[in-house]
Amino acid sequence: MSNQSFYLTTPIYYVNDVPHIGHSYTTIAADVLARYMRTKGRDVFFLTGTDEHGQKIEKAALASGSTPTQFVDTVVAKFKTLWTALHVSNDDFIRTTDEHHCRRVKKIFQRIFENGDIYLGEYEGWYCIPCESFWIESQLDEKKCPECKRGVEKVREKNYFFKLSKYRDALLEFYDKHPHFIQPESRRNELLHRIKSQIDDISVSRSAVEWGVQVPMDPGHTIYVWIDALLNYITALGYDDDMQRFERHWPASVHIIGKEILWFHGVIWPAILMSLKIALPDKIFAHGWWTIEGQKISKSLGNAIDPTTIIQLYGVDAYRFFLLREVPFGLDGNFSYTALVQRINSDLGNDLGNLLQRTLTMIEKYFAGVIPPVADAETVLGVTARKIYEKVDHEMGNLQFSKALEAIWEYIGSANKFIEEKKPWSLAKTSETRPQLAMVLGLLAMAIRDISVLIYPFMPTTSIEIQWQLGLLENKESPCLELHRGFKEGTVVRKGKSLFPRIELSQTQ
Ligand code: ME8
Repeated sequence: MSNQSFYLTTPIYYVNDVPHIGHSYTTIAADVLARYMRTKGRDVFFLTGTDEHGQKIEKAALASGSTPTQFVDTVVAKFKTLWTALHVSNDDFIRTTDEHHCRRVKKIFQRIFENGDIYLGEYEGWYCIPCESFWIESQLDEKKCPECKRGVEKVREKNYFFKLSKYRDALLEFYDKHPHFIQPESRRNELLHRIKSQIDDISVSRSAVEWGVQVPMDPGHTIYVWIDALLNYITALGYDDDMQRFERHWPASVHIIGKEILWFHGVIWPAILMSLKIALPDKIFAHGWWTIEGQKISKSLGNAIDPTTIIQLYGVDAYRFFLLREVPFGLDGNFSYTALVQRINSDLGNDLGNLLQRTLTMIEKYFAGVIPPVADAETVLGVTARKIYEKVDHEMGNLQFSKALEAIWEYIGSANKFIEEKKPWSLAKTSETRPQLAMVLGLLAMAIRDISVLIYPFMPTTSIEIQWQLGLLENKESPCLELHRGFKEGTVVRKGKSLFPRIELSQTQ
């Protein structure tokens, strides 16, 4: 056990529109990691929030006929409601419109200016409003934004610039010394290639956008929304008027982001931190993108399914499990109801649900519901268990959620195989084999208990339900989170409803 800090963040999401599967993916992944690290005794600080300034939000507010403030308040409430529904256990929720954030952003901007890293210049180029990104002519892709392929607009304005190019060599040296700083490796390589081929100073203010934090030394400008947004990772910790809190958690253990915003996080953010002489985060993990039934998630295609609809149909835990089991973290994935239902029926229903149901039925039938006590013998299951804990820990440390789940399901598979091999129903036929029967069912109960602990970060409600049915809990508020523990003598099971009843494909959307 270590009470060492573990600070993890998601991107702060734009509130121009309601959250969709993609936003829920990053937030659920972060939640799973946060819960896992808490079970290991780490001093976890899990931050998420919303990015509320800039031209894109200003435009969306205007289109909806409300003021930016009214508009953002309405959408932020939707994000918060969704995170509660998805059982996201964030420790804080930062809004870039929070007074404390704006105050700190101004101070930090002033400091970078005083350090000589911000200067006034003139920007002439292109701007993509959906990405809130500046592009030069040669970067455009057939006159479109190279990132999102949407239209760009010509911009010519007096802007403040940040001396990003000054940090090129320091950044390259840092990546070299910290090969795991940016993950996955393929994305790291792309980034290195880009930074080596071109790195220019960047615009960090807008003179034509009102909805933002004013530039302290020149109130006719607002701070570029990406600078305002990136600083959330330190303003939320109190930088720089609550240094005790800041130092307790910083540097971040991991910033989890989507692959499209890696340049901002992997290049611009570290350079800003270097300018401020603040340590860099340990890791930036850029995951892949979800499509829906093969198509990019987009409002104009009308395919942006509300995660609330999915969880109403299939439950929160099935959704959390599916997102992290279906696609290796880092790769792109495709959401389909067919794949979701298949996972529910096979992994959750057949493998996990049946293991619990069969075991509890036999404990009720042969031992009047009392879990037979067993010593922690070097049984096949005991040996498997120890290997699995190590594997899960290793994969979770690398944010390889699907591999961690594969390992847990290996354990579930071994337990199911153990039933088939030991045939408790045959052992129950004669009194001579009763000690073996007790041993088999006692070991199975212990394995299921372990499995409930291992799945807890992914499926907290299911984990608690299993522990409840195992008779481990007095109430459903406080799960047991320690591995490889036995049961109190005389523990009586409470076999209940099946965890994941079979769903027919026709019941789906
Ligand atoms: O970029 N698949 O906010 P944003 C997977 N405000 N993940 C997806 C996704 C998809 N189809 N769509 C979105 C911003 N995401 C800035 C961030 S941080 C200082 C500022 C997730 O609302 C993924 O995490 O556009 C992606 O990086 C993020 O949402 C973008 O959210």
